[in-house]
Amino acid sequence: MYVNLRALRLLILLNDGMYHSVNSLAKYFRCSLASIYFLVIQLQKYNVDVVNIDGYGILLNKPIVWLDAELITRYISIESEKLELRLFDIIDSTNNYFLSQLKRNTLIKDLTSVTVAEFQTNGRGREGRIWRCGFGNGLLFSICWRFEKGVSNLSGLSLVVGIAILRVLRSYAIQNINIKWPNDILCNFHKLAGILIEIRGEVCGPSYAIIGIGINFNLSKSIIPLINQRATDLSSVTGDLINRNQVLGRLLSELYNVLNEFAYYGFSSFKKEWISYHSYEGCEVDLIFPNGLAITGIVDGVTDDGAICLLTLEGKKSFNIGNIAIRSRIH
Ligand code: BTN
Repeated sequence: MYVNLRALRLLILLNDGMYHSVNSLAKYFRCSLASIYFLVIQLQKYNVDVVNIDGYGILLNKPIVWLDAELITRYISIESEKLELRLFDIIDSTNNYFLSQLKRNTLIKDLTSVTVAEFQTNGRGREGRIWRCGFGNGLLFSICWRFEKGVSNLSGLSLVVGIAILRVLRSYAIQNINIKWPNDILCNFHKLAGILIEIRGEVCGPSYAIIGIGINFNLSKSIIPLINQRATDLSSVTGDLINRNQVLGRLLSELYNVLNEFAYYGFSSFKKEWISYHSYEGCEVDLIFPNGLAITGIVDGVTDDGAICLLTLEGKKSFNIGNIAIRSRIH
């Protein structure tokens, strides 16, 4: 994939948060003024908030604290030799990276691999949606986890991943972070993070789960209108810039622990905790299925394999698919 390295060099230069005149940049890069404008446009394509103010020059609105493998490793509390960490400035999608590795059979069996990127040109969300996040504005990563069991034993996995994210974000004393079944991470009912899990493997095992996670930290102004759902980010919620390297390190440790527990005990041992995080427990909701039909009921927990339970007019029923939309709060 084509990455404009010159544009990235410009970004590093602008990261001092100062104005840089187009003339001085052209001198530095030994190129024309037009080439500098081209690089600025390139950065804007990566949704970097970079502006050109007449009489002042070019300014990066929100300087970036870059991801740093050494720092991330410092915050990982498991033996780090068990994890193989790859950092990219720009990639199409961290999930795609593993999908093609699996196709080519190039994964190392005894290592859990993690791919992280500052920007994705083809970030993917659930149900074919696009996942948008500007360069350095969030955490975008995938972890490829090998399970000895077959594909059918992995139900509930996406809910367990949600628990790992909640545990870590709540450790920063961030209020009002909850989960919406099955795995949307919400803050005040706005989307803060999402999980996309893609499973490959054999019916009887082994199977591989590519667990992709996107967390919004500090969304650039230019990206907010492009996101087609109510979204938020950690900096708006906390008024602070939370350390991405630290969150990633802690999250990888938490994921490592919960995934091992899940591989052994399944979802049932996490069920009570998950329900305590569910923002819609006890609420009257519509569950809307992919074909557009819907069923109404009151949310009454989840099953041992992560299906949502609804108290409907025909009694208690559980469902594995659909999107829930609130009708009213019962308590
Ligand atoms: C959702 O729609 O809620 C899921 C969003 C998942 C986004 C992450 S970002 C890292 C990984 N790579 C992708 O292309 N998608 C996931």
